Amino acid sequence: MTSSQDTARRFSAVTGRIDDSDNDAWAVHEDALDLKRRGEDVILLSIGDPDFRTPEPIVDNAVSHLRVGRTHYAPALGELNLRRAVADYETRVSPHRCRVGEVAIFPGATSAIYSVLSCLVEAGDDIVVVDPMYVGYGPILKALDVNPVVVRTKPEQNFLPTLDDLRGAVTAGTRAVFINTPSNPTGGIMDQGLLRRLAAFCQQQEIWLVCDEIYSMFTYGVPHVSLRTAAANLDWLVVIDGLSKSHAMSGWRIGWAVGPDDLVQHLGRFNSMSMFGCPQFIQDAAAFALNNDEYYVKEMRDVYRERRDRVCERLDAIHGLRYHRPDSGMFVMIDVRAFEADDKVFAGGLLEAERVSVLPGVAFGESTRGHVRFSLVQPLDVLMDGCDRLQRFVENP
Ligand SMILES: Cc1ncc(COP(=O)(O)O)c(C=O)c1O
Repeated sequence: MTSSQDTARRFSAVTGRIDDSDNDAWAVHEDALDLKRRGEDVILLSIGDPDFRTPEPIVDNAVSHLRVGRTHYAPALGELNLRRAVADYETRVSPHRCRVGEVAIFPGATSAIYSVLSCLVEAGDDIVVVDPMYVGYGPILKALDVNPVVVRTKPEQNFLPTLDDLRGAVTAGTRAVFINTPSNPTGGIMDQGLLRRLAAFCQQQEIWLVCDEIYSMFTYGVPHVSLRTAAANLDWLVVIDGLSKSHAMSGWRIGWAVGPDDLVQHLGRFNSMSMFGCPQFIQDAAAFALNNDEYYVKEMRDVYRERRDRVCERLDAIHGLRYHRPDSGMFVMIDVRAFEADDKVFAGGLLEAERVSVLPGVAFGESTRGHVRFSLVQPLDVLMDGCDRLQRFVENP
């Protein structure tokens, strides 16, 4: 007889590919959470979850729909009211009219990205991605067993790729180019010309161009240009967006993909097989949020902008410290190479000495090695305290 301990239980290959237990990029964040649980005075600047509460009218809307029984299965592609709200929003922000038939709803942008890529690429295909990239993309690419062809970027170019870099990364095996603008972690925004020419190139090569625009509503001065606005032809384009950041609704799990009708039909079947739709009352509240959002989004954007300005002003006062002033999003990338070559060592030291947690840039790729990501999702007084501690740390090595 064998006990379960002697039996080597077997799991699928995908479990091995997405097992990141040896990835220590998040170690500082985990250590910071441990310290906080033990009651220490830790400033968590390693997170990307908005610190705002979801606006009250959106919460009330969800509750009222819960009360009237909107608690059943929903269509796999999403409730018509939310798909229409997304289509109307996409129509407002781009010269191309967006139809309901081009919209698929998912439980969050992450799920939208996984589903879209599952419908576009095969194991072994090349997919062009930009470094640095959001930490959530890596596991998706690994799960799908695709081959990421990484386009490195430079700090002096605001971590943005050039058209030639992107074009040069395309091989005969490339099925998709996957970009993110505005960017997490850098806040860089791709300009209209780059997006227009990239879209034309992908169309001519007959490869998909997928763009994650989840930070589209949080830009400060430099306008976000949607891929759908920039492109002349939408045949090979997919835009991903959602409410997690813009409406402080990360836990509600609402995202979407906008693409050609035939892709959307595949996405419906994919969603039906895997998620089987999103909760009705949440979709109702999400539609309400999108149709009535001007005020709340602007209010939150103004707060983020002020935090960005005040933090940058404060960082300016730290001798020898360089940083990238973000045009968008919720993070400031700080170049720590003048103090410590290894960003993980810097982040570990900052937590140990001053109880501030920031994410090492290498978590996002080689291009941001030597940097740390300082999050703006804390109230201003906490951010200022974080800057004071950072200054003390770099000035007293
Ligand atoms: C660039 C980017 N895309 C997607 C996501 C995940 O979005 P969601 O919470 O809607 O899955 C994040 C979250 O941090 C992000 O930064």
